[in-house]
Amino acid sequence: MNVHDHLTYAVVDLDAIAHNVRALKAHVGPDVEVMAVVKANAYGHGLLPVARTALESGATRLAIARVSEGIALRRAGVEAPALLLGYTLQSETEAIVAHNLTPTVTTLEGAAVLDRQAERYGRTVPIHVKVDTGMGRFGLFPEEVVPFVQELGRFSHLRLEGLFTHFAVSELPDKSYTLEQFDKYCRVLGELEAAGVSIPLRHVANSGAVLDLPQTHLDAVRPGIAMYGLRPNPDVAPPVDLRPALSLYTHVGRVRTLPPGSSVSYGRTFITERDTPVALIAIGYGDGYPRLLSNRASVLIRGRRAPIVGRVCMDHTVVDVTGIDGVQQDDLVVLIGEQGGERITAEELARHAETINYEITTGLLPRIPRIYVRGGEVVPG
Ligand SMILES: Cc1ncc(COP(=O)(O)O)c(C=O)c1O
Repeated sequence: MNVHDHLTYAVVDLDAIAHNVRALKAHVGPDVEVMAVVKANAYGHGLLPVARTALESGATRLAIARVSEGIALRRAGVEAPALLLGYTLQSETEAIVAHNLTPTVTTLEGAAVLDRQAERYGRTVPIHVKVDTGMGRFGLFPEEVVPFVQELGRFSHLRLEGLFTHFAVSELPDKSYTLEQFDKYCRVLGELEAAGVSIPLRHVANSGAVLDLPQTHLDAVRPGIAMYGLRPNPDVAPPVDLRPALSLYTHVGRVRTLPPGSSVSYGRTFITERDTPVALIAIGYGDGYPRLLSNRASVLIRGRRAPIVGRVCMDHTVVDVTGIDGVQQDDLVVLIGEQGGERITAEELARHAETINYEITTGLLPRIPRIYVRGGEVVPG
């Protein structure tokens, strides 16, 4: 199938993912592992192709959020260590062990259930412990870690592999809170060492810290957004060349000129003041194109910007093509990406939709086919 056989689709440039992972790996150096964060369908880019590309390009580990993501990796033959960053149910323990996933353990009850399953499977399961140093979300408080780890010693089928924390604001230019968090984490490490416990894999850095805080790189880093070529902070130029991997396209469905006084779309939020040539395009909130973009964002047609008029609907949106010559049915429309030297970024859409670039790509729904491109060729996903 040709890319342009799809009405509405995303193109994921795997060369860009490979480039970004290689660049991040070069940035952290040979002694630091890259754990590619591929949760949430690789931030909307596609779990399997992204995971495979990252592993071919210097990542040695993966990070996921749900057991289902780990199962999908294993069923596809991806065998790299996969860390479950978040909370899991006790009822998911058997699947975790059966699929060789690495859980984050924060309760002794959870550890006991895991140890029993590990014994049943005749395995020793690597586990990570998370310490909450100021995110206020998940993980043990710093003072709970040493006693917890000492208690873990009684589970002979569990092996403490990693200790991690997560930063709340590492993307901001003011690094003071992040350094406070890092300091709390390092103090826990010191206490563990004093108690005779050494941690083989110490990891704390998300993209903001990977890019800007080399002292936090430790044994492994966990870049997510940067791997996709997007900036954790759109206002800060990263020290690494990052290439956005995802572009989003649709086509013009119909072009007409509306007379003055015509209302466009639900809610009649846009009324034409003059003869207005408009194009109907095949994207809507049913694709994950946010309704907050109504009357705010633009698209590219024939290399020119066309502003959205009226409300974004479930399947369609209308754009004003005034001043763009020759617009016709089936013309390619760029929603994210470049055309004729003009560019619309996920950050630009995020600003209009009052959100972050993360949510723009992650929010693209399954109805959007992802087309994978490598070396200029379409490749299987
Ligand atoms: C625990 C953890 N580590 C790393 C990441 C990656 O963060 P980023 O995409 O900002 O690099 C996330 C993402 O939410 C996370 O939850």
